[in-house]
Amino acid sequence: MAFSKPFLEEVKRRNRITDVISRFVPLRRAGSNMVGCCPFHSEKTPSFTVFSGTESYYCFGCGAGGDVITFVMQSEGLEYRDAVEQLAKMAGIPMEEEPRRQDDPHTPSVKKDRLYAVNKSAARFFYAKLRSPEGAYAREYLETRRFNDTTIRRFGIGFAPDKWDSLYNHLHGEGFTDEEITVAFLGRKGKNGRMYDLFRNRLMFPIFDLTGEVVAFSGRRLNEAEERKYVNTSDTPVFKKSRILFGMNFAKNEAEKGLILCEGAPDCIAMHQAGFGNAIATLGTAITGEHARLLSRFTKMVYLAYDIDKAGQKATMRGIELLNQVGIDTKIIQLGEGDSKDPDEFIKKHGAEAFRAKLSGSRGQIDYRIDEILSRFNLSIPDEKLRCSHEMAEYIATISNRLEREIYASRAAEKLGLSAESVKSEAEHKRKTMEKTMKKQENARIVRDTTGYGDQVNVDKLRFSAEAPHEEAVLGILLLHPELGKETARLLEPEDFATSFNRKLWNLFRSDLAEGVEPELNADGALTPAEIGAVSGYRAARATLGSNDMETLRSHIGTLKEMRSKREYEGRIKEDPAVLQEYLALLRKNNQNKNSE
Ligand code: UTP
Ligand code: MN
Repeated sequence: MAFSKPFLEEVKRRNRITDVISRFVPLRRAGSNMVGCCPFHSEKTPSFTVFSGTESYYCFGCGAGGDVITFVMQSEGLEYRDAVEQLAKMAGIPMEEEPRRQDDPHTPSVKKDRLYAVNKSAARFFYAKLRSPEGAYAREYLETRRFNDTTIRRFGIGFAPDKWDSLYNHLHGEGFTDEEITVAFLGRKGKNGRMYDLFRNRLMFPIFDLTGEVVAFSGRRLNEAEERKYVNTSDTPVFKKSRILFGMNFAKNEAEKGLILCEGAPDCIAMHQAGFGNAIATLGTAITGEHARLLSRFTKMVYLAYDIDKAGQKATMRGIELLNQVGIDTKIIQLGEGDSKDPDEFIKKHGAEAFRAKLSGSRGQIDYRIDEILSRFNLSIPDEKLRCSHEMAEYIATISNRLEREIYASRAAEKLGLSAESVKSEAEHKRKTMEKTMKKQENARIVRDTTGYGDQVNVDKLRFSAEAPHEEAVLGILLLHPELGKETARLLEPEDFATSFNRKLWNLFRSDLAEGVEPELNADGALTPAEIGAVSGYRAARATLGSNDMETLRSHIGTLKEMRSKREYEGRIKEDPAVLQEYLALLRKNNQNKNSE
């Protein structure tokens, strides 16, 4: 469902693009625009440009671009709707009500602010229950886990009573509907038609979003005989498990010194209590790409403090990979004394200082990988030792810094019981082959980007390389000056565009432009982020030129029309050579017209 134009305009008007972007990227003035280092790719010289005149941005380095909504989508990894909502929220604009979709009966009609409200009310209920007589054994349990009162209050820990409907009755009494309670994953309708609570007899950890609102719960069993150790809120319209990081609402303020990532709420809470305010947790699920992107907004360094079991090791490897992809360096905390499987247990047994020592002694990811490879082979068997050294060289070859390769090759060789030279030379040999391949790929990329060959967005660009620049000029000028759209709409036909992508853009923008209104790039997900980037590139290219008036526009349109008739004649000439005469006559006529102008 699309938002109304006035609503979107209000959202954009109240969120000036330079204000929003400067919260992420330091910008400096360059003429009438602002420039900075692109947040979407790594660069040292700024090619990321913010055009305050058109409320848009474009990176001349990587091609990312769009308006303030696109920026929030890209930088926060949000869907269009959520990005609009976030901007509206920041500006204090009430969300536009969305009529229930006719085509999708499953779309809940529950409003998000009701979901925030019902979660808050539930959190208060659980918190009060922990302090009531009913909650006595939950309080005892917390004592055995050594969570103190300050911690309980700070994290809003609560207790879900051992009843089928105590929360439901409370929420119902507060005026929440069955549908709201169901969509929030707090209750469900049973076979007998009555609503029952999903969290029963559990210690309740509220989960906060970045702004500190309760959006979900993680409930730990209090009875060890209970089958499910944890019950967690499933995804709801205000909670996406793959995106949330427990504790981030607190940790974001201390993130520059690095974040400590662990597996669950109890570990995270124990670390906070021990003085590590930079601890966060994924909720059981392994870290996702979305988590990694979110993290990259806050820090350059993450300590991985996963459990010592197999699953924890796997999660660690995956974490290193995903975090590296977004430019985050990782260190691995190994608790493996055998007597404590996770940070919570470790701190309880050995204290905060011992944990701090683990942090400063944590191995970098390279050492971790080397040990991980070693652990998979039995080195007393010659054949395995050989395979291990090959795999080691293969891995060391992926390290981009030559000096680092040398250091780690020696270290690995020592552990393997081989000469440093042998591991080093094998790694260097593999590195050379690898660099050759990378060079080839890089060259192919440059060719592709500069010729438009294989352009992912405008696939026809190479075939119509003469037409495309004129098309881009027309669209770029119109986005800069939508007021020229009225007259253009009378002149220009979709068939004047040779490339299908630009024709699609014209068809998409036409009705807005015909009214002199700036087209909405994000409307209804008609364009992908890459496409929006490309369009923003057209506009950005024109913004740096002098003449973007009707005169210029008319001349580009004229050229496009000539090229179109040439294309059409070419097709007909192939079928009937006599048409050539007709075509030549037309060219003569056009030339005469031009000369007499
Ligand atoms: P763990 O089994 O390591 O539990 O699962 P824990 O966090 O150490 O909890 P305690 O100390 O035994 O009380 C790690 C995380 O995985 C998720 C939870 O988020 C948990 O904190 N998990 C675990 C589930 O979602 N469901 C489960 O059944 C188990
Ligand atoms: Mn634990």
